[in-house]
Amino acid sequence: ADSSDTQFAPSNIALCKYWGKRDVELNLPVNSSLSVSLAHLGSRTKVSVSDSDQVWLNGAQVAAGDKFARKVIAFIDLFRRGTDHCVRVETENNIPTAAGLASSASGFAALMLAIDQFYGLNLEPSVLSAFARMGSGSASRSLYEGFVEWQMGIREDGMDSFALPLDVRWPQLRIGLLKVDTGEKAVDSRAGMNRTVDTAHLYQSWPLQAAADLERLHQAIADQSFTCLGETAEQNALSMHATMIASWPPLLYWQPDSVAAMQTVWQARAEGLELYFTMDAGPNLKLLFTADAETAVNQRFPGLEVIRPFG
Ligand code: DP6
Repeated sequence: ADSSDTQFAPSNIALCKYWGKRDVELNLPVNSSLSVSLAHLGSRTKVSVSDSDQVWLNGAQVAAGDKFARKVIAFIDLFRRGTDHCVRVETENNIPTAAGLASSASGFAALMLAIDQFYGLNLEPSVLSAFARMGSGSASRSLYEGFVEWQMGIREDGMDSFALPLDVRWPQLRIGLLKVDTGEKAVDSRAGMNRTVDTAHLYQSWPLQAAADLERLHQAIADQSFTCLGETAEQNALSMHATMIASWPPLLYWQPDSVAAMQTVWQARAEGLELYFTMDAGPNLKLLFTADAETAVNQRFPGLEVIRPFG
C-alpha cells in the first residue's frame, strides 16, 4: 500500500513497566507507566472496504480463525456497531522479527489511527490513545514519539486512562535490541500479568515500586541524568520479573543466555561503562546507553541492533 492512505505508529519500550490490570475488560492498569518510542520501527496499517472481513499481515492473509485476526476484527467491531460493511485491514511491521520485539503495541496504535482515518472520526490524540489501550495496554503509548507516560487514571469507564507525550528530548539516548530467542513465548503478557495479579503475594509491592520509579524517571529525564534513568529502568524491570517468578505456576521468561547477557552488562558496568538493560515478558534484553558508549557496547555485544529514539 502506498503511504498516503496508511497510518504509522512506532513500537515502544517501557522504562517503568505496565504489569497488572485493575479491569481486564477495558485494559485498565494497576499502575502508570513510562516508555520511549522506537522512531521508525513500528507498524503501518490501512483499513478499506471489502466484501468480507480480511486481515493481512506483511503481505499475507491471516486465517480468519487466527487469534491475531480475531483480535483485530473484535477491535474494528467497537467502531462499526450498527453498520454491516466488511473491512480489509492491511498491516506491515518493519520490526525485525529477529529483534524479538512485540508488535501489538505499534499494531493497535496504527490500527486505531487507520480506523480514525477510515471512519473520519478526527478524534484527539488522548482519545485515540484511550481506544488503542483497549486493544493492548502498551498500545496507548505508541500514539506518540519520544518519551511517553500512560497515566493509569481512576475512572471506572477508563476515559482518563490514556498516554501523553513528555515534552523533553534526549538525542544521545540509544537502545540496543539484544536477541536471545525470538520464538513465540508460552505465556503472553496478558495471561502472564493476570496470573501474577491472581497468585503472587509479592505483587502487592509492585504498585509502590512503580510509582516511585515513575517519579525517579521524570526527574532523570528532566535532569538528563543517564545514570538515574538506567538504574531506575533496570531495577523496575527486575522488580517486575520478581513478581512473575513469585507467581504460580511460576513465570520465568529468562533463558540461560538472558542471564549471561545480564552478567555481561553488570561486568561492563563494574569496568566503568554506563550500560543498563530492561526486559519485557520474554527472554530478550533491551540495552540502554548513550551515544558515547556505543563503540564499547558494540564490542561487548557484536551485531547489536541499535535504535536512536530521537533520530
Ligand atoms: C511487560 O500491553 O502486551 O511489555 O494490555 O494485555 O495487551 P495487554 O498487555 P501488553 O503488556 C505489556 C507488558 C510489558 C510492559 C510494558 O510494555 O509496559
